[in-house]
Amino acid sequence: MPPVRRSPPQPQPQPGDIELEFGVPIPGRILPPEQWAKTALKKVPPGLLDWDALFGRRAPIVIDIGCGNGRSTLGSAVARPEVDHLGIEILPVVIRYATRRANQRGLSNIRFAVIGGREFLSEHVAAGSVAELHIYHPQPFYDPAQIHRRLITPEFLSLAHRSLVPGGKLLLQTDHPNYWAYMQSVVPCFFEMHALAGPWPDSPRGRTRREIIARHHGLPIFRGEAIRRDEISVDEALRLANSLPPPTFNADRRLRQLDEIEAKS
Ligand SMILES: C[S@@+](CC[C@H](N)C(=O)[O-])C[C@H]1O[C@@H](n2cnc3c(N)ncnc32)[C@H](O)[C@@H]1O
Repeated sequence: MPPVRRSPPQPQPQPGDIELEFGVPIPGRILPPEQWAKTALKKVPPGLLDWDALFGRRAPIVIDIGCGNGRSTLGSAVARPEVDHLGIEILPVVIRYATRRANQRGLSNIRFAVIGGREFLSEHVAAGSVAELHIYHPQPFYDPAQIHRRLITPEFLSLAHRSLVPGGKLLLQTDHPNYWAYMQSVVPCFFEMHALAGPWPDSPRGRTRREIIARHHGLPIFRGEAIRRDEISVDEALRLANSLPPPTFNADRRLRQLDEIEAKS
């Protein structure tokens, strides 16, 4: 596999600059410091989040779970100023990039928080309060001892179903064929799912850092748009979750190489 070219050390970005990652522009432009925003939600308060209070307005809510360095969250927030976005991530070190970039772009319709996706949906999201959930490249976890950390489980899908507004959307993307096969087997129990083919029209080289790396290495990208099945009640979704198989698919260690490349680049 050809190595992904590391970006050479960059000088501090200046107002008006467009930043590049692997030669692909990061959405938005850097503003003069006096126009910067504060987008870090340093501590998620206990209990259900009050979205209106968090963003100071009422707008549709999009959550990007496992947002990494925030490229996809930034892209959506820049393209849709009328929509509010929360990117969440378990790794503080990567979310720092996301927060800095959103701050420097003066984006008032983004917040970033360090918290796990399952915990966040189950403890902090009111039922029927989120318009879209985006999950790009959840980790397949190769080590059998880590398999329990896979994000997409029947229980997680029931929480996603509960969190979304009627007709709400779950967007899923992976470059892992076995994870995709698992998603295709369980997601349609809670959502009307259809696969989306071809590159994103808004970001043909990749919406996320991982997608850019995977495309560069010629990996197929699997993507599904899933619309909440409103005829299923929250209780039915929970019962359904208990009857469906957990994600115990074989992650195929040969695919691990790209994860190592991603971590190093
Ligand atoms: C392969 S990376 C993908 C990052 C980004 N979405 C992309 O496509 O470039 C998966 C990310 O999910 C995060 N993650 C793993 N488990 C998580 C969880 N339970 N909740 C939130 N984030 C999680 C990891 O820290 C990692 O940054």
